[in-house]
Amino acid sequence: MKEAPPADLAQVEDVAAVWPDRGDREFMTRLWRSYVVPRTQAIREAQGRGVYILELLAVHPGCQRLGAGKALVQWGTRAADEQGVKAIVEGTPVARRLYEQCGLRAQIEEMQFDVGDEFAGRKMPKLTFMVREPKS
Ligand SMILES: CC(C)(COP(=O)(O)OP(=O)(O)OC[C@H]1O[C@@H](n2cnc3c(N)ncnc32)[C@H](O)[C@@H]1OP(=O)(O)O)[C@@H](O)C(=O)NCCC(=O)NCCS
Repeated sequence: MKEAPPADLAQVEDVAAVWPDRGDREFMTRLWRSYVVPRTQAIREAQGRGVYILELLAVHPGCQRLGAGKALVQWGTRAADEQGVKAIVEGTPVARRLYEQCGLRAQIEEMQFDVGDEFAGRKMPKLTFMVREPKS
């Protein structure tokens, strides 16, 4: 990714179709605005060289703990190395050890989401912002 993601969720999703409820839509719009802040910062720091964002990692429950997840992450970190750029992930707790095994390190232990007081009681994602420097 060489360009920062839009801060406005409506630019990347059909928000009215995905979240027909107005409250859900507003909550997700605010969540997204905070979610993209760290990766936007990383992309800016890369000064046009870009970063590899590793996302949407999931292995079928019947096939977990067989090495597929690790193979997929290593595919991504290898691609980042070939380009000489950072690999980045917004990782869930269950995948933390896997990412660490692949060389990613926590840069933000728990990402913060500024959704406003009216949504403060909603369940927020628990995500760690993790980064791996390229191997030359
Ligand atoms: C995270 C996930 C992709 C891992 O896939 P996987 O194919 O089972 O992972 P691997 O077999 O390559 O595991 C590699 C290592 O990661 C760690 N690991 C994997 N699953 C783990 C779990 N449920 N709890 C703790 N550690 C885990 C282990 O250290 C494991 O090595 P080991 O099996 O030798 O102990 C899978 O659990 C998943 O789809 N989870 C739900 C979706 C999700 O949270 N995705 C992450 C988004 S950031």
